[in-house]
Amino acid sequence: MNKDFKIAVIGSGTMGNGIAHVSAQSGFQTTLVDLNEEQLTHAFSVISSNLDRQIKKHIISLVEKETILNNITLTSDIGECKNIDLVIEAIPEKYDLKVSLFKELDSICKKETIFASNTSSISISDLGNQTNRPKNMIGMHFMNPVPIMKLVEVINTIHTSDDTTNQIIQLAKVMGKIPVQCNDYPGFVSNRILMPMINEAIFCVEQNVAEKEAIDEIMKLGMSHPMGPLQLADFIGLDVCLDIMEVLWVGFNDSKYKPCTLLKTMVNSGLLGKKSGRGFYKYD
Ligand code: NAI
Repeated sequence: MNKDFKIAVIGSGTMGNGIAHVSAQSGFQTTLVDLNEEQLTHAFSVISSNLDRQIKKHIISLVEKETILNNITLTSDIGECKNIDLVIEAIPEKYDLKVSLFKELDSICKKETIFASNTSSISISDLGNQTNRPKNMIGMHFMNPVPIMKLVEVINTIHTSDDTTNQIIQLAKVMGKIPVQCNDYPGFVSNRILMPMINEAIFCVEQNVAEKEAIDEIMKLGMSHPMGPLQLADFIGLDVCLDIMEVLWVGFNDSKYKPCTLLKTMVNSGLLGKKSGRGFYKYD
């Protein structure tokens, strides 16, 4: 893939900074956009310290770190996406927010620009149908932490063109990832299976079936999961988990996807997991 290909990542939170990191490390000029300037500065320092970790592990050199950081431009001005070839959206899991962003991008970007959403569960078809370029719309679902996790779930809609899919598959490979395709359905494959498990683990806490540590330990030792579901929920963000459960619940109109009350209470109380310092566990 041509290294003149320009990428913009919108949203510099948990996922956006990781996506910008791998994009810049793959040699692409990467524009990282966030409404919140403090968040942008924080994201840049997270990328820098994650690169330091890669230096310590002898994955990259100090000179390569500088080159990677130089590939990243920070901005709060969405207008900077004018000449971008691919936009990867990583803003919060709220349908209305994403629609208004894509509508705005539709009026700013050239007509060939591909729109990829990192959404965990929102319909890619619905997002694409709100723009004038549904054939350029695709799901590019990275996993957390992005620099480490290999999977990119690539979500095609009925309208996604073969050219769009092929470019995204090729790009994911250039980024050192393994793309796996699926079709657009609530939660796709990954979160349709993962989130009900996390939700069920939270019901186990609520119903005092076991201590939280015991629930995680049972799933780690018994199912060979590298991390228990409650710790994983903390790492994903409990707000993100709740948003996804709500999309599944509404999307399938099936009560088996109803979010646990304890999950709602924790989110409403600001216990969002690692990013807020406290979820099921406490973090520095
Ligand atoms: P986050 O809450 O950590 O970050 C979102 C960022 O978007 C914030 O910095 C916010 O200031 C910014 N933002 C909000 N509206 C914006 C706008 N209109 N323009 C520019 N920036 C804007 O969210 P997170 O966890 O990174 O999630 C982002 C997306 O990735 C969501 O759709 C989520 O479902 C998905 N996802 C999350 C995963 C996780 O483990 N957290 C895993 C895979 C996907």
